[in-house]
Amino acid sequence: MANIHLVMAAVVVVLLVSLSSTSTSASASAISTKQQKQSLRFSEKGEFRILQVADMHYADGKTTPCKDVLPQQFEGCSDLNTTAFLRRIIAAVKPHLIVFTGDNIFGLDAKDAVYSLNAAFSPAVSSDIPWAAVLGNHDQESTLSRAGVMKHIVGMKHTLSQFNPPEVDNIDGFGNYNLEVRGVEGSAFENKSVALFNIFCALGRGKLKDLAQYFVLRAYKNKPEAQEAPAPGLAYFHIPLPDFASFDSSNFTGVKQQGIGSASVNSGFFTTMAEAGDVKAVFVGHDHINDFCGELAGIHLCYGGGFGYHAYGKAGWDRRARVVAASLEKTENGGWGGVKSIKTRKHLDNQLLTAVDAQVLWSH
Ligand SMILES: *[C@@H]1O[C@H](CO)[C@@H](O)[C@H](O)[C@H]1NC(C)=O
Ligand SMILES: *[C@@H]1O[C@H](CO)[C@@H](O)[C@H](O)[C@H]1NC(C)=O
Ligand SMILES: *[C@@H]1O[C@H](CO)[C@@H](O)[C@H](O)[C@H]1NC(C)=O
Repeated sequence: MANIHLVMAAVVVVLLVSLSSTSTSASASAISTKQQKQSLRFSEKGEFRILQVADMHYADGKTTPCKDVLPQQFEGCSDLNTTAFLRRIIAAVKPHLIVFTGDNIFGLDAKDAVYSLNAAFSPAVSSDIPWAAVLGNHDQESTLSRAGVMKHIVGMKHTLSQFNPPEVDNIDGFGNYNLEVRGVEGSAFENKSVALFNIFCALGRGKLKDLAQYFVLRAYKNKPEAQEAPAPGLAYFHIPLPDFASFDSSNFTGVKQQGIGSASVNSGFFTTMAEAGDVKAVFVGHDHINDFCGELAGIHLCYGGGFGYHAYGKAGWDRRARVVAASLEKTENGGWGGVKSIKTRKHLDNQLLTAVDAQVLWSH
């Protein structure tokens, strides 16, 4: 993992869940037309589920072997096990959004980045469910540059990924954009912004704090005036912040089986989020055999846990995925109020897709 930090990639998705009774026009004008086409909204049951897929490390498909499985599991195990897991977990969880938190493909072993990207994301594409991806540190190591990978992703079906925000020209990276989530169809909030996703992907440690300030605080500024309290938000990145090292088994849920692979320099990103006050949880990948969530200064810092079979892992320790479920409050007149709770759990890739480590990340 040592070399990873030479090509430090900080990749962030921020979801700010905020119920609004104001017009969406202010934030909508800054949002590209792409997301307007496919709008995200809370379900008629007042739920919004996000499936996080961390570190698929997809390469060439059937000919790419699994890593770190039990000796008896090695035969017949390939990248196809990764996409099979993705199809099963999508069918079981029925997420409203799938977020891929980077190292979607393992470039060093991928002969053709376009082939690998298409194959890796194909279960998401064919599910018709909106999906968003950010880059990790391995996505650009095949036949496409980081810009090339992001361009290709942006052109894929059902993705909400975008290349960069049109109004910012000094971002050092590719894949920076906002997404908006609307209220329940048929409710007073059906045309209103209920949640906002800021997705950004930057190269370089120094810029991370600026980016965080730009995106988190900008989203915060756009926060609906009618909001009584700071809206709860969720952030997804590839590489953990140094702050992930603040825990031990006495104060996290899940496991830590390797060191925290963060940048050695603290960008101040955590402080920026803590100051903004709306981000309640952060989700990363990168360290495949860590899958814990711990709370620091009111923000949960969580790993997704390694998903891909060609990614390093731990033999006998199931590949896994994290689900986040946000629920709206039911109002007295049968409508929907603000976000009531944000919960998370992980599903293991075993026969039953066993759910583990259910916990509440935030409640109102
Ligand atoms: C990989 O997929 C094959 C074919 O479906 C299956 O038989 C095998 O059990 C899977 N291996 C693992 C480790 O899940
Ligand atoms: C939302 O927009 C649609 C289409 O313009 C409209 O028919 C509907 O009445 C609107 N809903 C609310 C609650 O304003
Ligand atoms: C977790 O507990 C350890 C002591 O076991 C402590 O040093 C650390 O500060 C705690 N972290 C948080 C975020 O509370």
